[in-house]
Amino acid sequence: MEQMLKSAKELVTASARSDVPPFIVMDVMAAAARLEAAGVHVVHMEVGQPAAPAPATALAAARGALGGRIAYTESLGIGSLRARIARHYGERNGIAVDPARVIVTTGSSAGFMLAFLGLFEPGDRVALANPGYPPYRHILKALGCEPVLIETSAATRWALDPAALLAAHRATPLAGVLVASPANPTGTMMTGEALSRLIGTAEDAGIRFISDEIYHGLDYAFAAVTAAQLSGRAVIINSFSKYFCMTGWRIGWMVVPEPLVRPIERLQQNLAISVPTLSQVAAEAAFDGRAEMEAVKHGYEENRRILVEGLPGAGLEHFLPADGAFYLYADVSRFTNDSHDFARRMLAEAHVAATPGVDFDPVNGHKFIRFCYAGSREDARATVERVGRWLGRR
Ligand SMILES: Cc1ncc(COP(=O)(O)O)c(C=O)c1O
Repeated sequence: MEQMLKSAKELVTASARSDVPPFIVMDVMAAAARLEAAGVHVVHMEVGQPAAPAPATALAAARGALGGRIAYTESLGIGSLRARIARHYGERNGIAVDPARVIVTTGSSAGFMLAFLGLFEPGDRVALANPGYPPYRHILKALGCEPVLIETSAATRWALDPAALLAAHRATPLAGVLVASPANPTGTMMTGEALSRLIGTAEDAGIRFISDEIYHGLDYAFAAVTAAQLSGRAVIINSFSKYFCMTGWRIGWMVVPEPLVRPIERLQQNLAISVPTLSQVAAEAAFDGRAEMEAVKHGYEENRRILVEGLPGAGLEHFLPADGAFYLYADVSRFTNDSHDFARRMLAEAHVAATPGVDFDPVNGHKFIRFCYAGSREDARATVERVGRWLGRR
């Protein structure tokens, strides 16, 4: 019996590639939920998702579709949705995108997996900006690729710098690079010129370019430029999660160079068959809900203003430029060398939940915390108020 148990244990040993780190923000959420269960009012600034629901147009379309058959769709996505996404690039960016290059995905998360599988071999090195969204490096690792973190600085608005990319490439060749603008956790953006220079540098060096454009539409400082406008060879990844407030619908898209369409179609056929049908129907109708989503965006702008104006008086005067998305990345090194502990204490004592920078940056994350301002105006005001009182500055 003992022998059987022992051999069963050996059989269910998890693979080394599955040994990816957890997402610390989930620990913060769990701690906040425990406080709330004890009757405490917590201000939630930790999770990166909109408080608003999907546009009414999307909800109505989904309700309408529920009466009928919800069947598989083509693996690349419903044709009319792919065409609608392509049209979106004409409307927003003034460029023609062939609907044949559009692939519907289960959120941008599935887009990363498909892009990495479609472009890279095991062992390939892929450059990422540090700090950055943790699943990039964790998915790459799980697929046997090597994430290469490149430090960013104020000089480049916390974006990858072409010279740093080339230096990493010369040290050991890179197969790809992934950037996000607006970025998570920093909320910073690359100008069109900076993005263009980086894409040019990467492509001249034979480095494949992936652009995570999930926060497009949520730009306040200046307009975000899509890589689709700058290169026909870049892989674009986008999602309905953020601008369209559809996180739980798990729906996104890619725009890929023509030679990648069929390989990614074959991957998606095998990995997922197709993307949830109800979500595809809702997503297509979401484009008709832009006026509603613009109002939601104005709410974020207002929250951003409250934090940008209020946090310095509350004691957090150093943060990265909050250009876009709905994040503010604040330097707390004046108070602590351990952002995880700082976030834990801020939650326990000020009842404000925020995410420690160590989630996003293994090098300097201990000096930062991230606030997500995708909630209500009251939450933004309460954050300034409570943090200020807690730090003894109000
Ligand atoms: C930068 C970035 N990319 C991608 C995602 C994944 O989003 P989804 O899979 O919902 O499209 C997130 C989620 O927070 C994100 O912040």
